Amino acid sequence: TVEDSGGAPPNQRSVRVPPGVTVFDSASWNGIAIDSTCGGHGTCHKCKVRVDTSTPISRHDVRTFTRDQIDAGWRLACLVQATRDLKVTVPPLTTRPKAATVGVGRQVILRPAVQKRYVELEEPNLADQRTDIDRLLGAIDDLAPRPDLHALRRLPHVVRAADWKVTAVIVDEVLVDVEPGDTTEQRYAIAFDLGTTTVVATLLDVALGTPVGVASMLNKQQPYGGDVITRISATMMDPATLPRLQQAAAATLSELAQQVCREGGVDPAHVYEVAIAGNATMTALVLGIDPEPLGVAPFVMSTAQPPTVLATDLGLDLHPRARAVFFPALGAYVGGDIVAGMLATGMDRDKRTRLFIDVGTNCELVVSDGDRILSTAAPAGPAFEGGAIKCGMRAADGAIEVIKLDTTPDAPDRAVQLGVIGDVEPKGLCGSGLVDAVAELVRVGLLDSSGRFIPDEQAPEVAPALADRLTRIGEERVFVLHRPHPDAPADECVVLSQRDVRELQFAKAAISTGWTLLLEELELEHRDVQQVLMAGSFGSYISPASAVRIGLVPKLPVLRIVSAGNVAGEGAKMALLSVRERAGAAALLQEVTYVELSDRPDFNDRFVDQLSF
Ligand code: FES
Repeated sequence: TVEDSGGAPPNQRSVRVPPGVTVFDSASWNGIAIDSTCGGHGTCHKCKVRVDTSTPISRHDVRTFTRDQIDAGWRLACLVQATRDLKVTVPPLTTRPKAATVGVGRQVILRPAVQKRYVELEEPNLADQRTDIDRLLGAIDDLAPRPDLHALRRLPHVVRAADWKVTAVIVDEVLVDVEPGDTTEQRYAIAFDLGTTTVVATLLDVALGTPVGVASMLNKQQPYGGDVITRISATMMDPATLPRLQQAAAATLSELAQQVCREGGVDPAHVYEVAIAGNATMTALVLGIDPEPLGVAPFVMSTAQPPTVLATDLGLDLHPRARAVFFPALGAYVGGDIVAGMLATGMDRDKRTRLFIDVGTNCELVVSDGDRILSTAAPAGPAFEGGAIKCGMRAADGAIEVIKLDTTPDAPDRAVQLGVIGDVEPKGLCGSGLVDAVAELVRVGLLDSSGRFIPDEQAPEVAPALADRLTRIGEERVFVLHRPHPDAPADECVVLSQRDVRELQFAKAAISTGWTLLLEELELEHRDVQQVLMAGSFGSYISPASAVRIGLVPKLPVLRIVSAGNVAGEGAKMALLSVRERAGAAALLQEVTYVELSDRPDFNDRFVDQLSF
């Protein structure tokens, strides 16, 4: 529940986050602003929220709140972890922040490219015949913008109609408009995470640094293929597909822009900038650039830094001079979304040795030792998205996302515990469920380290409560995760098949080969990694313990493995809130070395080494 300081009825939102994420991060990822000046580090004591009274109390809570407040459920949001369903009441912001908390605990000093200045100009007379523009520029000479034609066209009429009381709108040092009266409070921008599957938009009040609306939807390019390769192939087979894909992307962005403006009660004409973080293919397609070279060796991009364009050129109905800025890309398969993610996680600022993993069909990896930064891409295949998996599905209602196995013989009803999205009858298995299923079966011994189900006759001894779930569909061995009714045959159940295990093995071997080779390049051992950031809409939901167990990430204490959330969207927000951060993203092009793995002679041998659990 988000309370409104203006006395408006509280706003109810319900959001889903990976277990263990703090309430503070959950809110920030979902566009809900909570007071803070420390960025979620437990030191500013400003992130006050009300939660269930049974929520554990930290020592910082004791210092911050009175006994009565604690009894009423007040806690510091950055110290409350969401490990179950939680009701949270977020009070209105008390301070007008000069800095905003975005990304993974990053504090960003507000320096947006969008500036506004209200001025009351002196009317011209015969003794003062300065031009309209000189009169205006004279009043805002500290900003020294260059006027564009749109502003000049509007100027004579607007200043006179508004009795010379106007607001100058400056975007990236260009005077783009003059608005009647004082509109300085209406300064908005939209951050887009343009994903292959899902697109997320966040409407930001750039004057305050706070989000005022968030919306997401499936990318309307879906009918042309689930991943970038099929979409590239579609353009290769029929040249008419490229404009269609461009239109589909434009329609997605435009619908989301309207949605967030409606949600935030913002006039779209007050949105002056958008930032788009997408992979190299999504960026090429939304710009109408032929993506074919991205899909065939030697995988070359048309440009690493797409130009800034007008948002109207992308089909967005915002301020007519609103700009669209894109993130630069490091390579055909380490795109602008990953650069945005690096910005959001501070990969170039942190002195720790960190590994960043964005898990998906294409898995992007970044390793930094605090000095050098290396990145690469590993083709993980569709397993994590539910593709090529017998009962695989996307993370939607009915998808099993958490699995716990209990081998105690006297508790058969607890033998398989499932967490299902939407709390409905299980329909299939999503990526995090797949990782959990395999990790748990390895843990209880029903899968051996080579990834094979153990012989039928050994199962009753190894895991008596689970043995009857190990069965066959035709020739193939399967483990039954959910039976819709007690007599349901295996082919009507949600199962994990031997082939599914193989698919996951290939995916995780591709990924772990990637980070192993990057660590070697930096002469680092697994144990040197101080933090693993699991990013992306899927990666954030993988259980750290399961990821360690199957070897998707280095064998490290689970506390070193953190969900980083939708870092591409967070990076896009940062670029809108601070021109310095935006420049930092551009600088990453020079700072990060892209390592091509596919031409390494030892790649295949290393891959085979990584297959086992
Ligand atoms: Fe500063 Fe929680 S955000 S204490």
